[in-house]
Amino acid sequence: MTMTPLKSDFLEKMRQQFDNAPYPRTPLEQFPKNLRSLYIHSLVTAYYRRNQKVVTPAGKLILDAGCGTGYKSLELAIANPGAKVVGIDLSPASVDLAQKRLQYHNIENVEFHAIALEDLPSLGMQFDYINNDEVLYLLPDPIAGLKAMREALKPDGVLRTNFHSSLQRSIYYSAQKFFKQLGFMLGTEPEAEVKLVRETMRCVKNNAFMKVYGWNSNFETDDETVLANYLLEGDKGWTILELFEAIEAAELEFISMVNWREWDLLSLFDNLDEMPLSVMMSLSDQSIAEQLYLCELLNPRHRLLDVWCGLPEKTQEYEPISQWSDETWQSAIAHLHPQVVTTEFREALNHCVTGAKIFELSRVCQLSDLSLIIDSQGAGCLLPLLEMPRSINALVQWWQKLRPFNPVTQEPTSETEALERVKGLLLPLEENGYVMIERNA
Ligand SMILES: C[S@@+](CC[C@H](N)C(=O)[O-])C[C@H]1O[C@@H](n2cnc3c(N)ncnc32)[C@H](O)[C@@H]1O
Repeated sequence: MTMTPLKSDFLEKMRQQFDNAPYPRTPLEQFPKNLRSLYIHSLVTAYYRRNQKVVTPAGKLILDAGCGTGYKSLELAIANPGAKVVGIDLSPASVDLAQKRLQYHNIENVEFHAIALEDLPSLGMQFDYINNDEVLYLLPDPIAGLKAMREALKPDGVLRTNFHSSLQRSIYYSAQKFFKQLGFMLGTEPEAEVKLVRETMRCVKNNAFMKVYGWNSNFETDDETVLANYLLEGDKGWTILELFEAIEAAELEFISMVNWREWDLLSLFDNLDEMPLSVMMSLSDQSIAEQLYLCELLNPRHRLLDVWCGLPEKTQEYEPISQWSDETWQSAIAHLHPQVVTTEFREALNHCVTGAKIFELSRVCQLSDLSLIIDSQGAGCLLPLLEMPRSINALVQWWQKLRPFNPVTQEPTSETEALERVKGLLLPLEENGYVMIERNA
């Protein structure tokens, strides 16, 4: 483990905060099983979002920037078999726990360094993927942090980073200011401060706004919840527009929201047909950043503004699948996402096909809050993908075998009809991240 001296009082205070209360407190022996989190940490997901290409993680170099006690470093190692994981954090106590965590799980291809993010270029490494989770909002100068990570990113590399949302967390910023004003957040005795916050909040009237909207039973039992919301030194909130400005200032390019399915502005409206035409036209004129901002204003439910970005140099042109010609479709290759193909998924798919039941994908593997259901015919069409990726052409032929003729007209299923059915099946699965469809060069 290497360690460098810190440059500012602010960083020194931050180090002290996390040396005294390393984050997260997840027990070392806990093995990550949350599919949604492993899916996000799989670099297959991010690379596909950027390039419509399916990469193999083996041999890739991954950085966990601000790794804390290494739970996410462990998730990164598990979600990316064969990749090497490097973790950095300015708190030596956290790094020590991260090292112990990965040792406990017999993960060997890792190394950790107790250095500040701002000093990242001093490592002299170039990464394929950087995970910078729950850190940027603590930095005195987040743009300097973004620039340091940009310098350490390979040209086709992907950076995952996030800010706290100022809209969603406004109640906690008030709580932090309230307790700071009363002399809390010294960072030296976190447990004693948590106890005092609880005692204070118990005395606050139940109808006080902060108690109604910013306090619940979790705060009474879980110290980390109090520390991460009421007593987090240096915590700052951002809006989507500010996030885009920071990305641009660091000469990075936005790729996608990490939970992109939950940032669809139009999905927040019922009865789009009844929307005033002028408003509808104005909505469609908005840039991507503006649409996300409108989404945030209308429904500020995400604590994190969580994004993937990369260097602006594009490796290839991205053409949305919805615009592909039939020829491009036919030669393209469909893959199930590797994190999706679990034993449970295989069993559930086989069960639905055999029993001619509907397949409730989101119940077997929940990648987002949206529910996704396919019929047993569609489930049958996915079966060959359990073994290996297949061309769309092969799936079209498979569809024709599964449904050789139309039971109503008794006409044989044509190739054109089968292609339309396969497209209709795969498009929502692709949009929601279960399936990846790679263009054949
Ligand atoms: C809220 S924790 C997040 C830990 C981990 N990324 C996770 O999500 O589980 C924030 C971490 O960022 C680290 N940190 C804060 N400022 C930093 C900086 N300037 N350079 C490196 N690490 C920093 C802290 O020491 C702490 O471990």
